Amino acid sequence: NKLYGLLGHPVGHSMSPLMHNDAFKQLGINGYYHAFDVPEDKLKEAVDALRLFNISGLNVTIPHKVTIMEFLDEIDEEALMIGAVNTVVNIEGRLIGYNTDGRGYLTSLLTKLNKPLKDSNVLVIGAGGAARGIVTALANDGVALLTIANRTIEKADEIKNHYLKYREANINVLPLKKAQLNLARYDIVINTTSIGMSPRVDEVPISIDHIKQTAVLSDLIYNPIETKLLQLGNKKGIITHNGVGMFVEQGALAFLKWTGKQPDTEKMTKIVMQQLG
Ligand code: ATR
Repeated sequence: NKLYGLLGHPVGHSMSPLMHNDAFKQLGINGYYHAFDVPEDKLKEAVDALRLFNISGLNVTIPHKVTIMEFLDEIDEEALMIGAVNTVVNIEGRLIGYNTDGRGYLTSLLTKLNKPLKDSNVLVIGAGGAARGIVTALANDGVALLTIANRTIEKADEIKNHYLKYREANINVLPLKKAQLNLARYDIVINTTSIGMSPRVDEVPISIDHIKQTAVLSDLIYNPIETKLLQLGNKKGIITHNGVGMFVEQGALAFLKWTGKQPDTEKMTKIVMQQLG
């Protein structure tokens, strides 16, 4: 029996245990996934314990995604570029850190679009941890026109400059207000901030008055499933994309790294949707 788990604080509302344990069952894998509630100052002890008990794989969430990096034996390049780890694989005692958030998001978005992103003009709203994953995955995937808009411009600059330490890319940075005025330029608009997340369900990160009718409006938030921002997009009749797919796909990519098997993401989505009510 192989053991897997989530390290975070809090973890009580996590949908990952149900999602992964069901996938183990579906695929006939003798595995078990448990959510470990690890306070911020206990992370090193937790990682030592996981080594001792030979846990096979982990997900990592807030507040440990950045701090866990120093306790691992190896970090994958995309995780280094993002500057955070959300997945750990234990290979014969060596703990290797990955980040499946950006790639999970990209997989979900591409499934929705059904065409490559290469020629799209993409706007990323926000410059927190979630934005880092998205910007890295989009730039690594070859998006030619990428803009980060943030209230605090320095944080957007920081993401851009961190990326450029690793690879070349054409990344623009804008204050949020300016992006709002120029919104008609973008083919894909992605909210990576927590604005609109429960309980702040009446707030939007940006006005979409000027958005293109052919644009795709995407929000990383999945609670609520349809944020105020996406509601406004739907009212306009544009294509919208919520955060459920990213959650499922980041989990599926982690599962694949742990087990070598691709889980059924449709079944995973059903489980997540049931949980979200
Ligand atoms: P993370 O992505 O790491 O979870 P977060 O705290 O959820 O981070 O979100 C941070 C992002 O939301 C930042 O881009 C932040 O803008 P600043 O860098 O200017 O702080 C943005 N954000 C949060 N509240 C905001 C608000 N009221 N108006 C505009 N942007 C806001």
